[in-house]
Amino acid sequence: MTRVIAVANQKGGVGKTVTSLNLAACMARRGRRTLLIDLDPQGHCGVGLGVDTEPLAATTYELLVDKSAPFDALTLKLPWPELASLSFVPSNLRLALAERELSVRSTLGNLALATRLRDIRADYDEVVLDCPPSLSKLTLNAFLASDLVLIPVAVGFFSIHGVRMLAETLRDIFEETGLDYEIRCLITRYRAGQTVSREVRRAADEMFGDFCFSSVIRETAEVEKSVGAQTPLCISAPRCHAALDYEALCDELLELASATRRGAQAGGRDEPSTEKEAADGREGQKAV
Ligand SMILES: Nc1ncnc2c1ncn2[C@@H]1O[C@H](COP(=O)(O)OP(=O)(O)OP(=O)(O)O)[C@@H](O)[C@H]1O
Ligand SMILES: [Mg+2]
Repeated sequence: MTRVIAVANQKGGVGKTVTSLNLAACMARRGRRTLLIDLDPQGHCGVGLGVDTEPLAATTYELLVDKSAPFDALTLKLPWPELASLSFVPSNLRLALAERELSVRSTLGNLALATRLRDIRADYDEVVLDCPPSLSKLTLNAFLASDLVLIPVAVGFFSIHGVRMLAETLRDIFEETGLDYEIRCLITRYRAGQTVSREVRRAADEMFGDFCFSSVIRETAEVEKSVGAQTPLCISAPRCHAALDYEALCDELLELASATRRGAQAGGRDEPSTEKEAADGREGQKAV
């Protein structure tokens, strides 16, 4: 059962890319067949994984815009043997052009990613989407392809305000499209003993209740170093705080997936519950 996780927040610099690539790496190191797709024209996943994306002609742009591009030709493998089950679709600035091209296709343009992923669902256990810092067409494509929207919230005074807006926007989108997928919040750059960290955590708990991950990602100097070294934390600094926190997040997500499987088996759900599930054959695959 494939699960698609969109890592999204319209606020910049909250840890979307660090979360996407480290979560994807943790999942892959545990043998999960994992696909990481960079949906941000900034191409930061490529930077963090040591891939020079500028000269590439097989990227997320082709994935979304060129239906004839074979999927296998768009994915890269990475040099670490521990991450053999990780595949990566990189992006570069050309992806910004996809916005306009997808807009021309109106509603179908919003489903370009969902349509592409439908064909490869049997090949992966986990798909992680690193979204840009905007509520753009690219982000909308991610939402409409996802089982779970993971919202990183970096500790800071403005962050909770922005997250409330995003959660409301997601609910509007879900109501309009008939989708009712899971939204979960992840606190990043957490500092134990810091007042604002405690306040943000309390506010997130109030807003999201059980839909806030118990794991928080601690502020850790090795994160920046691992980005500079272009290597995921589970390889470059597996014992640092943030690496342990991403492992704990991975545990929570795997537990969530098995709870979903158990629920689907117990419920014997065989009828799609939304129009979109019916359309894309994803019945019974909601994250929770
Ligand atoms: N837990 C952490 N500890 C220390 N630094 C962190 C942590 N998480 C993220 N950072 C740093 O914060 C900065 C922003 O992180 P990142 O690029 O992942 O955010 P983003 O939300 O993807 O940004 P953008 O909106 O531009 O795509 C980076 O320099 C990263 O190294
Ligand atoms: Mg980013």
